[in-house]
Amino acid sequence: MEKHLFRKLALFAFVGLVALPLFARGEGRLDSAIGQAQAVSAAHGMVVAQEAMAARIGTDILQQGGNAIDAAVAVGFAMAVTYPRAGNIGGGGFMVIHRAGDAGGDDDATIDYRETAPAAINDKTFLDAQGNADPQKSRDSALAIGVPGTVAGLALAEEKYGSSRFTLADLIAPAIALARDGIAVTDDTADSLPHDLPRLLRWPSSAQIFLKADGAPLAPGDRLAQPDLANTLEAIAKEGPRAFYQGPIAQKLAVAVQAAGGVMTVDDLKDYRAIERPPIRGTYRGYDVVSMAPPSSGGIALLEMLNILEGYDLAHEAEAQTLFLMIEAMKRAYADRAWFLGDPDVVQVPVARLISKSYAGQWRATIDPARATPAVDIHPGGVVASEGRNTTHFSIVDRYGNAVSNTYTLNFSYGVGLVAAGTGVLLNNELDDFAAKPNTPNAYGLIGFKANAPGPGKRPLSSMTPTIVLKDGKPFLVTGSPGGSLIITAVLQVVVDVIDRGLDIASAVSAPRLHDQWMPDKVFAEPGLADNLITALEARGDSVMVRHLPTSANSILVTPAGLVGAADPRTRGALAAGY
Ligand code: DON
Repeated sequence: MEKHLFRKLALFAFVGLVALPLFARGEGRLDSAIGQAQAVSAAHGMVVAQEAMAARIGTDILQQGGNAIDAAVAVGFAMAVTYPRAGNIGGGGFMVIHRAGDAGGDDDATIDYRETAPAAINDKTFLDAQGNADPQKSRDSALAIGVPGTVAGLALAEEKYGSSRFTLADLIAPAIALARDGIAVTDDTADSLPHDLPRLLRWPSSAQIFLKADGAPLAPGDRLAQPDLANTLEAIAKEGPRAFYQGPIAQKLAVAVQAAGGVMTVDDLKDYRAIERPPIRGTYRGYDVVSMAPPSSGGIALLEMLNILEGYDLAHEAEAQTLFLMIEAMKRAYADRAWFLGDPDVVQVPVARLISKSYAGQWRATIDPARATPAVDIHPGGVVASEGRNTTHFSIVDRYGNAVSNTYTLNFSYGVGLVAAGTGVLLNNELDDFAAKPNTPNAYGLIGFKANAPGPGKRPLSSMTPTIVLKDGKPFLVTGSPGGSLIITAVLQVVVDVIDRGLDIASAVSAPRLHDQWMPDKVFAEPGLADNLITALEARGDSVMVRHLPTSANSILVTPAGLVGAADPRTRGALAAGY
């Protein structure tokens, strides 16, 4: 990459700041203090999710003898009903699975159920007449809607990795009942609706669900009934995922998207496939790290950062120095993310190189332990200078030694805001995760280049990082988070807090976090991070801004004494439920 490109990149430090205020919108709770997560212990099985009814449904399945995958499928469908701003069947996500085998024959699998771009999407779709990126198109219009992957992904998980004790219909049944009977509106839904209402109100089919007869948004104690969604779920329960991707439901989805100005067709839906991909695997101080491969950037970026950090004795560094080194690692991993990563079915991603220890060593050699490297001096590719918003994560461990780490999303809170009439399905605006134009930030301030250009059938690059850390081949830590670009660094900090700093899981999940994504050239720190640490980072040349970083790292730690779960205190209503 030529030098002047990097001068230009500096400009985006500014543009990124315009996009980044989105971060401040909160993952529910917006008051300044982060509470302390409650550590919840259990002997047999546990679900930690962002919504309590769904978490309990998952625990119930575990108690009935189901495995972690059965529970994940039940939680995934239930949250489409109980947590409509992010739980979904109109979006997509990623699932990382650890399966206990006989005689140590454990294995790991991942399911990519990311949305795809409809066939009519190309690299001009999200530009205005002047050829500039048009955020209105990529975030607020029906053009932003990707072909939903959740139904295919959950069905594939169940078919391939479920215990066979339950049918898909059994696992969807609780969701159908909640959609049909209605649920008491949760605090989280009531908190988020006023903010997101303008997007939902653009379509009567959405307003009908989330508004009362008098036009006010649903409030705590009101009932949220979703009869159309119940019918859609019932059809999937009866006929399998085909009922969603073909026939009358698919037709209604395509008609609704096109009527709203989008381009998704019944053929796009018919062609959708969830894909099983080899996980990204690496090691960190003797632990195995299993995470998500492209089209998520999460696994690669997480391992790049861990590999860089492994070269330092973090357990014995001063806290400020640990934070400083983490920030330096973040900048470098996010620079590589911007340049190299995209849909692996369309672009060549140099995975092995990026996650190798030797590559991390090259990056480490560029870190001055006393001085922050300015973002413009970091060139993707290491030493070679050539070149809201809303999601939800749940972690599950069962009594058999299986684990699931699942993150799925509509992108923004309530996605694009469009409920496809007659289906109850709220649709995503995931295609803003493409680089609408090279070097132009998306809603999370992330820039990208050719590798992540919009294209027909292509999956936009994600930051979702569902991760399972293994110790001696067995699940040790199950974690992940929502938060757009903040996800990967949140997961990094939970891993480092547990492994290097020896924090218990509740403290690791609650600790104020910080974030650096290369561009803009800023460190964001959560309120609560000690002033002396911020001063120490600034003394090394980092520019630190304090702001809310809405993540929610619902995690489980497997300890000799049993399972310990921690629901992230940043999210109202999250629950660790075990038995
Ligand atoms: O896939 C991604 O990286 C984003 N669409 C995730 C969005 C997100 O996490 C928003 N949540 N708070």
